[in-house]
Amino acid sequence: MTELEKVLSAFGGEDDDIENHTQMRKDFEEAMMMYEGAIREVRTKLEVLNDEFKVRSRRNPIHYINSRIKTPASILEKMKRRGYPVTMESLRENMHDIAGIRVICAYGSDIYSIAKMLMKQDDVMVLIVKDYIKNPKPNGYRSLHLVIEIPVYFSDKKQFIKVEVQIRTMAMDFWASLEHQIRYKTDGRPSEEISNELRECAEIIHETDARMERLYKTMQSL
Ligand code: GTP
Ligand code: MG
Repeated sequence: MTELEKVLSAFGGEDDDIENHTQMRKDFEEAMMMYEGAIREVRTKLEVLNDEFKVRSRRNPIHYINSRIKTPASILEKMKRRGYPVTMESLRENMHDIAGIRVICAYGSDIYSIAKMLMKQDDVMVLIVKDYIKNPKPNGYRSLHLVIEIPVYFSDKKQFIKVEVQIRTMAMDFWASLEHQIRYKTDGRPSEEISNELRECAEIIHETDARMERLYKTMQSL
């Protein structure tokens, strides 16, 4: 059985029932296609905001945008871990990070400007805001997380789709990438020494972000 087939079986597409399995595969593929559509919509919104900012301020607040769709195996793992029913309805209802967009900004203030502009758009419904910059995680992680819902138009329906948006500076992203690798390598339990070092680096990075932003503002006033 392939990875996808295992996941489809868990979703009720029993492989001894060919018709049922084929239908489940279609439903799952359709759902993923919708999340892809939602990612494109949000990416375009962000690019438009970036272009406008560029014209007005002569610089890009967004350094780059990354996006991904959660893999079927990872979707199933999280639904089981959280104790959610493994159904398509539950997937749409409970899972808010199937479509994920990461926005890497130059300065800390750009994070809030972009978030504010995105959140005030008519067709953007804000479901969750988690500010890990004002309230960093104990390990030092910083980032602004939004879960939004946007309408995506298909041939015969309008579907509201959830997208997780993570907005952070280049420095915060640099830190998060390494921390993620370390966590993976150490099965989520880095040594006390490494954890302390990571936490300290996060503080230094935060301080440097603030100093760079002050320098930038000083430069502007010259
Ligand atoms: P997940 O089950 O991990 O999705 O967590 P959650 O639904 O409680 O949401 P949360 O906002 O805490 O985290 C969502 C995502 O943010 C994660 O999947 C990671 O991509 C990122 N993230 C959160 N905390 C950390 C962290 O400590 N380190 C790193 N590198 N990334 C993190
Ligand atoms: Mg996640």
